[in-house]
Amino acid sequence: MTSTTGAPMTVRSALDSLRAARVLVVGDVMLDRYWFGEVERISPEAPVPVVKVARTEERLGGAANVARNAAALGAQVALLSVVGDDEAARSMERLLAEEGIDASMQRDPAVTTTVKLRVIGRQQQLLRIDFETPPGREALESKLAEFERRLPQCDVVILSDYGKGGLTHIARMIDLARAAGRIVLVDPKGDDYDRYRGATCLTPNRSEFRQVAGRWSSEAELEAKAQALRERLSLDALLVTRSEEGMSLYRQGSALHAPTVAQEVFDVSGAGDTVISTLGVMLAAGHDFGAAMHWANVAAGIVVGKLGTAVASPAELLAALGG
Ligand SMILES: Nc1ncnc2c1ncn2[C@@H]1O[C@H](COP(=O)(O)OP(=O)(O)OP(=O)(O)O)[C@@H](O)[C@H]1O
Ligand SMILES: [Mg+2]
Repeated sequence: MTSTTGAPMTVRSALDSLRAARVLVVGDVMLDRYWFGEVERISPEAPVPVVKVARTEERLGGAANVARNAAALGAQVALLSVVGDDEAARSMERLLAEEGIDASMQRDPAVTTTVKLRVIGRQQQLLRIDFETPPGREALESKLAEFERRLPQCDVVILSDYGKGGLTHIARMIDLARAAGRIVLVDPKGDDYDRYRGATCLTPNRSEFRQVAGRWSSEAELEAKAQALRERLSLDALLVTRSEEGMSLYRQGSALHAPTVAQEVFDVSGAGDTVISTLGVMLAAGHDFGAAMHWANVAAGIVVGKLGTAVASPAELLAALGG
């Protein structure tokens, strides 16, 4: 890695440089809730266990977890999303404030904030209960206006699509951000990728990529499919995250692979959020795509070694990158 003066940069000074990174995260936010308890009997009402809740936990999920990961790296992070006017939204705002995230949540009283509630007894998940409703038109319109207002104050835009309807205007957002000269990263969902046209980089995982590009049986075939999609959508780069196979970055005339660096794997959920946030923060701080991918891969290797959706801290990155 080199600094702007052309001199070699240490890991420590690269980490320091992340404080200047300004990232705008937009997308579907959710609250992950966990209720832990004891199961001592079966309900007299129905043949189901009765869980006596002893402890609860709440974590930021979806785009809010992307924002949390970026903030953990020391970056200046703003988050735009639509939530309901309910207690889950207030919990989420409190958690975001604790992480130092500048959150702008459009409250749509007609919707329920997305919550995934897990009930855990006897060390196992007994039930997951989902609350969610797609945001209404008015809230989405005012979010788009807020997006335009906030664009000048960021270097990189991260669009975290969890398919919940919060990114209805994504094509417009990409156009606005690119016209303003911003780097745009998208974590995609579904099979309609035309709406991501013109973004700087998409970060599908293996199965998401397979869903749009079909199966491959060799590295060469994967590369051909990746380059074809990248060109069709006019992307600068396509990053395919490949779970235990690490990740691959496809750019004009080049393919770069990073094998996984995970020591032990405990929980892979949220690794994709860590990848896109680390990539975004690195690019926002002025590092190149190769360095950004390397760090994203190392950060993902750290979080898969932790339980629950986790973040990689600067100290952990420093240790892992050998600074
Ligand atoms: N089983 C694993 N072993 C080692 N590394 C892993 C494993 N799973 C994920 N990783 C690391 O995390 C990165 C992202 O993981 P993955 O490709 O599964 O993304 P994802 O499916 O979007 O994750 P998410 O659960 O957040 O949706 C990988 O590129 C790799 O660096
Ligand atoms: Mg993912």
